[in-house]
Amino acid sequence: MADGFASAQDRATFIAGLPKAELHLHIEGSLEPELMFELAQRNNVAIPFATVEDVRAAYAFSNLQDFLDIYYQGMGVLRTEQDFHDLTAAYLARAHADNVRHVEIFFDPQGHTERGVAFATAIGGITRALDAAKTQHGISSRLIMCFLRHLSEADAEATLDQALPHLDRIDGVGLDSSEVGHPPSKFERVFARARGLGLRIVAHAGEEGPPDYVHQALDLLKVDRIDHGNRSLEDAALVARLADQGMCLTVCPLSNLKLCVVDDMAAHPLKTMLDAGLHATVNSDDPSYFGGYVNANYLAVADALDLSKADLLTLARNSFTGSFLDAGDKARHLAAIDAYA
Ligand code: HPA
Ligand code: ZN
Repeated sequence: MADGFASAQDRATFIAGLPKAELHLHIEGSLEPELMFELAQRNNVAIPFATVEDVRAAYAFSNLQDFLDIYYQGMGVLRTEQDFHDLTAAYLARAHADNVRHVEIFFDPQGHTERGVAFATAIGGITRALDAAKTQHGISSRLIMCFLRHLSEADAEATLDQALPHLDRIDGVGLDSSEVGHPPSKFERVFARARGLGLRIVAHAGEEGPPDYVHQALDLLKVDRIDHGNRSLEDAALVARLADQGMCLTVCPLSNLKLCVVDDMAAHPLKTMLDAGLHATVNSDDPSYFGGYVNANYLAVADALDLSKADLLTLARNSFTGSFLDAGDKARHLAAIDAYA
């Protein structure tokens, strides 16, 4: 066993009690099959599955696009403000059970507006659940809207226009969906406008795309965080740059395994990232589709890579220091980790 643990059970118990933040979570990717059926029935939406087991059996992916096809289909059951509330409330209850103290949630407005569901319907339900979780569970949150990169920059601009009346509830913008062939450079102007509005900037880069897309996210979009970033390791100068800047990477181990970004959890680059001085964090991405929430991600990668207590404490600290919380809140959460350690 790695330093500090007598057994795998001892490490699992340590992970469960560790205070943590989650920084890479697509709320639509937390739609569990049971809720998918309930909402399909509530809204009279047809889904191509007869049972929950059929749904889970369909979750076998060989790459990102395989997953995205079924992810966009799944979100079709979300129609009303109440649906978005129930989806978000269910995720927050799971996060609370994993001792997550702070969440920074993505949503994909274009995945809804293109189906005729209003921006206000989606954001209204999500924020109502976020507000309730603050009182009910003490979980703080930030909300990040993502642009779908397979669509045009003009479409992203129109989405930013729709967001303007809701800027009091939106903390940042991100970039997700099909990466290869849709580089950050395609969205340089809309991200500049978002920055001018005071929004924080993140982008998925280096999940399937090359290290150059990570450079572009830094140079052209001027990101505050990189989502995934795995393929940065192919470029030594990029690794040095990310380490020097203290750039946070939101790494998603079970996602990487399910989408064949890694062949085997034992080959996951998380430990290499930490050893290279990269500011890596552990997140669940789309937990319903990839087989687990944040603690399951910590556990899977910790077991496969025999992570030590010091590694796990670093990952939890990174999750707060890489967040968009203010300095006082970060210090309070870091003190809670120190007390736990
Ligand atoms: N990558 C890109 N787009 C996504 C993902 C992801 O992991 N999850 C939801 N949209
Ligand atoms: Zn993601």
